[in-house]
Amino acid sequence: MIGIFDSGVGGMTVARAVEKVLPDYPLIYFGDLARSPYGPKSPEKIIQYSRQNTRFLLDQGARLIIIACNSAASVASELIRDEFDVPVFEVITPAVRQAVEATDNGRVGVIGTRATIRSGVYERMIAAAEPGIKVVSSACPLLVPLVEEGWLDRRETKMIIRRYLHPLKMQQVDTLVLGCTHYPLLRAIIQAKIGKRTQVIDSAEAVAVELQSFIEKNPDIAADLAAGPGSRYCVSDITDAASGVAAKIFGRKINLELANGNL
Ligand code: DGL
Repeated sequence: MIGIFDSGVGGMTVARAVEKVLPDYPLIYFGDLARSPYGPKSPEKIIQYSRQNTRFLLDQGARLIIIACNSAASVASELIRDEFDVPVFEVITPAVRQAVEATDNGRVGVIGTRATIRSGVYERMIAAAEPGIKVVSSACPLLVPLVEEGWLDRRETKMIIRRYLHPLKMQQVDTLVLGCTHYPLLRAIIQAKIGKRTQVIDSAEAVAVELQSFIEKNPDIAADLAAGPGSRYCVSDITDAASGVAAKIFGRKINLELANGNL
């Protein structure tokens, strides 16, 4: 099984993207709704939660982990790779690769939670890939709660997004990374506010494509991943809003299982 975790429902955008390109591989998802959001929390807490989430997924039969949360990936991915003996994917590396390829004018915008933006991970990784690129980043702490509440098309949401994107627009970025897995749910508004000439990079799609090519090159791991019952979607707390957002992401009702025994 492919194990995927996030602080909440945002990582389901990754699960959905993986399901689309790899429909024969069962997923085990964990959304840590009881402790969401991670974005405002300290690196130490986020690392602790990421370890627990990974352990939970492995105990449920996962043989590969996707950290479907930029906030967790920005502070915990190296550690998770060192500590657990399974392939670990995360959403930042593929998004960086796509952004570097996409930009023509060398100005890349990144939006994410406070934890992700504060970590400076996008600046570091983009500079390592292509030193000449200017990165303009902006923390958007109000967006995760708006998504978790299902406020996907409200006037207030549009106003807040416009405000957050203003500095990036002023810097004329031609590429914008959605550095949070909740943001694909707001993609249409973000695209409209940043302008249609700016290419928007969705890390959910980027990681799914990367995983697909890994699986093609590693048939032994592929066989292991294909084993297992159907996909399961576990959360550490069940809320009506989460069920609604999950249904919106998948375009069908998702049966959320309460699984907080490990916390
Ligand atoms: N989806 C998570 C991310 O990509 C949201 C983090 C949060 O809970 O604040 O960063």
